[in-house]
Amino acid sequence: MKHLNAFVTMKIEKKRKLLIDAADAVVLPVFKKGKTSAVFAQYPELEFFFKTHKFKGAPDEDLAVYSGTMQKLLVVIGAGDCNRMEDVVKLAKKTIGMLKKHKVKTALIHFSQDVPLEKHFARVFIDYLYISRYSFDAYKGQHKPENKTKNFPSRVQLYCEPPRVFSAPLLKERETVNAGVTAARNLVNEPPSTANPGYLVEAARKIAAGFNLGIKVSRRKELEESGLKGILAVGHASPHEPALIRLSYSPRGPVKTVALVGKAITFDSGGLNLKPPGAMLDMKSDMGGGAAVLGIMDTAARLELPVAIDAYIPVAENMPGGFAYKPGDIITFANKKSVEIVNTDAEGRLLLADALLMAAKGKPDFIIEMSTLTGSVSNALGDGIAGLMGTNQPLAAMLLKAAENTGERLWQLPLPIDYRESIKGKIADLKNAGYGKASAIKAGLFLTEFTGGLPFAHIDMAGTAFLTKPNSFYPQEGATGFGVRLVLDALNQVCAR
Ligand code: BES
Ligand code: ZN
Ligand code: ZN
Repeated sequence: MKHLNAFVTMKIEKKRKLLIDAADAVVLPVFKKGKTSAVFAQYPELEFFFKTHKFKGAPDEDLAVYSGTMQKLLVVIGAGDCNRMEDVVKLAKKTIGMLKKHKVKTALIHFSQDVPLEKHFARVFIDYLYISRYSFDAYKGQHKPENKTKNFPSRVQLYCEPPRVFSAPLLKERETVNAGVTAARNLVNEPPSTANPGYLVEAARKIAAGFNLGIKVSRRKELEESGLKGILAVGHASPHEPALIRLSYSPRGPVKTVALVGKAITFDSGGLNLKPPGAMLDMKSDMGGGAAVLGIMDTAARLELPVAIDAYIPVAENMPGGFAYKPGDIITFANKKSVEIVNTDAEGRLLLADALLMAAKGKPDFIIEMSTLTGSVSNALGDGIAGLMGTNQPLAAMLLKAAENTGERLWQLPLPIDYRESIKGKIADLKNAGYGKASAIKAGLFLTEFTGGLPFAHIDMAGTAFLTKPNSFYPQEGATGFGVRLVLDALNQVCAR
């Protein structure tokens, strides 16, 4: 638990006045279309270096020059046009790379040209600084290998000429949002025997206590009383009791009421349909959806968003053993739909069915559900894009917009009604596996059976929640906190309407 709020020590600030003296180094992003005269007006020594190096501001260009008159390092970085997300990430990456290379502790990033950055790109630039600063080293003892964040700057100041894309409220917001991302990453990275169902319940209690959120946790007895048979079945073989965590954030006069649902399997061994070693290795990450929902609740409360949120996090450990649920079992859910268990490794949809039914009972305006649900989605979209499915196009469009805004990418998959044939059971209404091809889509169709016809979006983040190796946005392997920035952006859109 101690790691939950262990956040980066880096401070990113927006400066009103250009106070170059306070920093060890000045970073100057130079855009291809920007006027270099603006740069030279403030840093006349650079003109010589620009000319001798034929510096154009292309994304692969950089220059580090020690200024004798200013007595500090000037780092010039080519920013290109910066009109694509990839360029912005590249600029942020290069900025951090140069600061680390030159062991700069306090840096001033000075956007001295008319900044052509759009607001969402400015946001992603800041997010990248936080995301790249993250490291999970709580378990690195005496034999600490070369700490990846060792040379990271401890203070980054931002200064920009108008238009003011980097505003002080934006920076404050990103600091808060990225603390939520870090909390989600820490929960997922924690080893599975520590981050068991009880640990997640405690994490939720801590968040609730900090912000006066409503919390209700149902453990085995209450789950039985409420007929939440999916959660019970999946958690049956584990010595750690399963749970349904309900958190509610109720601001005054909310513009909308939203339900969030997040799958939290603290370890997915596959159950009796045991996963092979390679597939089981990273299955502590099967709580990525639930951890993201916790991070979102914490952040929404800190930001005082004017939208009411009810979160439902079903928690269990999926284990084999004498008490394990079995292929051939049939579970009848609260909406009277019966499900034949074909594969105990398709456990997520079973505990989500319970959570979705509970969420729908509260009649929210819409439901967003996040889960590391299928290997199929990561086969289709890889580790950089999550699958979006849903029953309501305006809701899907809002999430797609949020994906564009944050760089947490989504690709919408259809939910063709005729595919429903393949999720029907032999002796029960539905089955939980054995769907054949397009199983990510069919798992999505399965979930819609439990949403009471409410507007529903399903985010399958099996590929994006946890990385076995770094990718272009995350310089570390492990948990990404995927979904926190994305869904908070969507909630912000709801508030702005
Ligand atoms: N938790 C897994 C999905 C997963 C796979 C998450 C890879 C992260 C990375 C899920 O519970 C699962 O095992 N799904 C199976 C279902 C199958 C047995 C029908 C799958 O998709 O392979
Ligand atoms: Zn599974
Ligand atoms: Zn799973």
